[in-house]
Amino acid sequence: MTEAPIIVISGGASGIGLATAGLLAEQGSRLVLLDLHEENLQNAVNGLPGEGHHGVRVDVTSEASVNEAFATVGERFGRVDGVVAAAGIVDPGPSAEVSDASLLRLIDIHLMGSIRMSRAAYPLLKRSERAAIVYLSSMGARLGVAQRLGYNAAKAGIEGVARTLAVEWVRDGIRANAVAPAWVRTPAIASLIDSGFLDPAPVEARTPMGRFAEPREIAEVIAFLLSPASSYITGQSIAADGGMTIHFPQAQD
Ligand SMILES: NC(=O)c1ccc[n+]([C@@H]2O[C@H](COP(=O)([O-])OP(=O)(O)OC[C@H]3O[C@@H](n4cnc5c(N)ncnc54)[C@H](O)[C@@H]3O)[C@@H](O)[C@H]2O)c1
Repeated sequence: MTEAPIIVISGGASGIGLATAGLLAEQGSRLVLLDLHEENLQNAVNGLPGEGHHGVRVDVTSEASVNEAFATVGERFGRVDGVVAAAGIVDPGPSAEVSDASLLRLIDIHLMGSIRMSRAAYPLLKRSERAAIVYLSSMGARLGVAQRLGYNAAKAGIEGVARTLAVEWVRDGIRANAVAPAWVRTPAIASLIDSGFLDPAPVEARTPMGRFAEPREIAEVIAFLLSPASSYITGQSIAADGGMTIHFPQAQD
């Protein structure tokens, strides 16, 4: 077995997943990035510091695709030390009009994708002495964010997955936690701004820190939750949101 931590990240070709890969690679981990977007995936792997990183084209909506990727990881490394489930999409729209297809796609990618990643990783995580899973939740799991019906339902579900697996897999030495960001400057959010769906000014005004997060700031929390430094934390969802979800606005603010 190699000494460097082996970390598998879905959605590793962009945004939060990519920033996490970069940070962990700097810290000496060996990364396996899973993503649907082949070109971004290759660029991401090539751009990582250090050696021995891999990219595998995976669709997290396919059980076979996820299982095959982890079979490859198992053959190559023999174990997995950390899993980050960061694949995701945004597909906002009015809740009264949203189609089943849109809702099911959001739930399939975010919620089922996180479950498929966990299930496929389980036998390899059991072989690690520091096994941890980190899910990407969202403030949408806690706050009513309009026009994000399927997304918010999926994110609330992910926090339930973290709690369930934290309790069930603790005997295997596996921890499971989530990070819940508010708004992070990633390509997904840039697309919402460009399409006119999201006006950044009121969001910044509503956030106590007065700004969006940078992907690296979320990556730091994920790296902590993957590391033995958080060895007594499991089943939690940690908000990394510039104070947005604890803020009760008052006139003098
Ligand atoms: N950016 C934010 O403000 C924010 C806030 C809260 C939570 N999140 C969550 O963080 C995660 C990452 O978001 P991001 O903003 O970095 O997005 P992003 O669009 O920058 O990256 C998401 C990646 O997931 C990949 N992906 C999409 N569908 C996939 C599939 N079926 N199989 C495999 N890969 C797939 C995409 O190709 C892309 O590379 C998501 O779960 C998102 O919901 C983001």
